[in-house]
Amino acid sequence: MNTILITGANRGIGFEMSKQLLEAGHRVIATCRQPDAASQLDALRTQFGDKLSIVQMDVADDASVQTATTAVSTHTDHLDWVINNAGINLRQKFDQFNSQDMLDTFNINAVGAMRVATAFANLLEKGTEPKLANISSQLGSLSKARKGWGTYGYNASKSAMNMISRHLAFDLEANGICVVAVHPGWVQTDMGGKTAAVTVPDSASGIINLLSNLTMASTGEFFTYQSDPHPW
Ligand SMILES: NC(=O)c1ccc[n+]([C@@H]2O[C@H](COP(=O)([O-])OP(=O)(O)OC[C@H]3O[C@@H](n4cnc5c(N)ncnc54)[C@H](OP(=O)(O)O)[C@@H]3O)[C@@H](O)[C@H]2O)c1
Repeated sequence: MNTILITGANRGIGFEMSKQLLEAGHRVIATCRQPDAASQLDALRTQFGDKLSIVQMDVADDASVQTATTAVSTHTDHLDWVINNAGINLRQKFDQFNSQDMLDTFNINAVGAMRVATAFANLLEKGTEPKLANISSQLGSLSKARKGWGTYGYNASKSAMNMISRHLAFDLEANGICVVAVHPGWVQTDMGGKTAAVTVPDSASGIINLLSNLTMASTGEFFTYQSDPHPW
């Protein structure tokens, strides 16, 4: 049984990973901005009891992440996986540029992942074969960039997340923490839309399968949810 912290766990891929991990017998610390409004997580709590802890955490906010770190420490003395899943996509095209929107996107998608990684590294270090997964996107890949494919703030924030993943892998290698960036597929969530190619359960189970089989030999790599290497 692993103890796994997930950000943005109240809906979408984050919620589905929480559900599947609980069903597989793991302990999940599901973090979200508004636990009071997290009705799907409440239903899981009824089903799985103490195997699920719901902790408030806004990854955009230093104080919130610090408070969450203290709260999580009351639930567990270690973490085996941390999944940086929280993200936004404000879909800014060239003629819609708004600096605050772009900064907010960076703050959540890239800086948020860094906040969480640094805040929880101590607990991860105490885990068994610990893993830090940053849920990135193919839209953050420089080599796959195509005209009209994605938007400035989102794509650039995921490229930044990819670089952060590389450097976290360097810095956390000595602590035995494997760090990867993961493209979850184009998924049928609020963000991906109904016409997306991949179902939420398939994306979530793919990511879980990838993380379950990861070793330190793969630290610093970028993978698809189907466990294939993804080009940077
Ligand atoms: N869906 C796709 O096709 C796709 C493709 C590539 C990559 N991804 C990535 O996969 C991850 C999950 O996406 P999704 O499709 O499941 O999106 P989603 O359905 O829109 O869910 C996003 C989640 O992130 C949370 N979140 C947003 N800002 C947050 C913050 N400041 N602090 C904490 N949580 C925050 C949301 O919480 P609230 O309910 O409070 O807003 C929600 O739980 C994201 O990182 C996304 O970029 C998705």
